[in-house]
Amino acid sequence: MPEVVPQPPNPLLLPYETGHLRLRNRIAMAPMTRGRADDTTAVPSPLTRTYYAQRAGAGLIVTEGLWPHPLGKGGPGIPGLVTDEHVAAWREVTRAVHAEGGRIFAQLWHVGRMTHPVTLPDGELPVAPSAVRITGEPIFTRDGPLDHVTPRPLATAEAEAVIAAFAAEARNAIRAGFDGVEVHGANGYLLQQFLAENTNLRTDRFGGSRNGRLRLVVEVVEAIAAEIGPERVGLRISPDNPENEIAEEDPQGTYRALAGALAPLGLAYLHVIERGAYGALADLRPLWPGTLIANFNGPEPTTRRAGEEVLEAGLADLFSFGRLFISNPDLPARFAAGAPLNRHAEHLVYGGGAEGYTDYPALEAPTAEGART
Ligand SMILES: Cc1cc2nc3c(=O)[nH]c(=O)nc-3n(C[C@H](O)[C@H](O)[C@H](O)COP(=O)(O)O)c2cc1C
Repeated sequence: MPEVVPQPPNPLLLPYETGHLRLRNRIAMAPMTRGRADDTTAVPSPLTRTYYAQRAGAGLIVTEGLWPHPLGKGGPGIPGLVTDEHVAAWREVTRAVHAEGGRIFAQLWHVGRMTHPVTLPDGELPVAPSAVRITGEPIFTRDGPLDHVTPRPLATAEAEAVIAAFAAEARNAIRAGFDGVEVHGANGYLLQQFLAENTNLRTDRFGGSRNGRLRLVVEVVEAIAAEIGPERVGLRISPDNPENEIAEEDPQGTYRALAGALAPLGLAYLHVIERGAYGALADLRPLWPGTLIANFNGPEPTTRRAGEEVLEAGLADLFSFGRLFISNPDLPARFAAGAPLNRHAEHLVYGGGAEGYTDYPALEAPTAEGART
């Protein structure tokens, strides 16, 4: 008889308790824009509740980014969380996820300069900390790819209004039944544009020094925490991530200071996308007393083994997977069974209907007969 070597439990599959959240495993579904909302009303598609309910086996789902203000919309079919209609539609989604025993946070996402007048109401200019235009890759719009325009810098009072818009969106998230919210401070969108030296050339209190550059993010998080309770607020960051023409001169200095400013608040979690030369997870882990979610963003979908290694090394409490969840709605069950994984169809990621969205199959459920054998 071959010797049976007891296997340590897979760290991704252990339950996790954090503040008011009890998660059935340590796998988070990373936020992913799918572009299927009505482009005029920004109300999510009725398919969206099926899509997230199918993925409720994740310990925690973080939704695609939802805009807090029409100027925060980045492209076609991106949902909002501003109107009563938005709230009602998202309530259907949270109900469906909760009915499956899942937990779901809404991602709050203002894109800043990463949009185009054709996407914004009345052809308005995108807003940003400073008038710094993206010079590289064009931006995707309903009219196809278009060159970026130079964004309009937010006046100080407008930056303060952005804080209020995020707080109002968080209130809407709770009205819609979400378990909490994740503030999108990553990937070169508005909040990271305030954090980064190359996009924030301001001289008011939202720029001018490291503390000035941190201020908008810190005040957004504080305002939301005051509104809905810190235990319902997460923050996503991507230190040293060059995406969307961000160039951070001193990621270590910036993100250590940010973690230091937010650590006393008792937030639900910090969600760190590890990218670039600065080893953010190892550097920030000792500075962050609360829950840490890790994510890797490389050219290929992150593997199960990569997530396990991060948890085994104690670098994070939870690991989030993005692309694997597109094509494997029951990803945790597949990990548990050691089952093969589907690959997603690239051309069906954004926009469209059920194809490439809700039609990826789950593993065959065992039949009563199968269960007996
Ligand atoms: C189709 C797609 C849409 C995405 N949309 C968002 C988003 O709305 N908000 C966000 O913070 N990250 C977004 N991301 C980044 C993912 O959350 C994640 O960081 C990335 O996919 C890397 O994880 P993975 O290797 O497990 O896919 C998106 C990624 C993909 C592939």
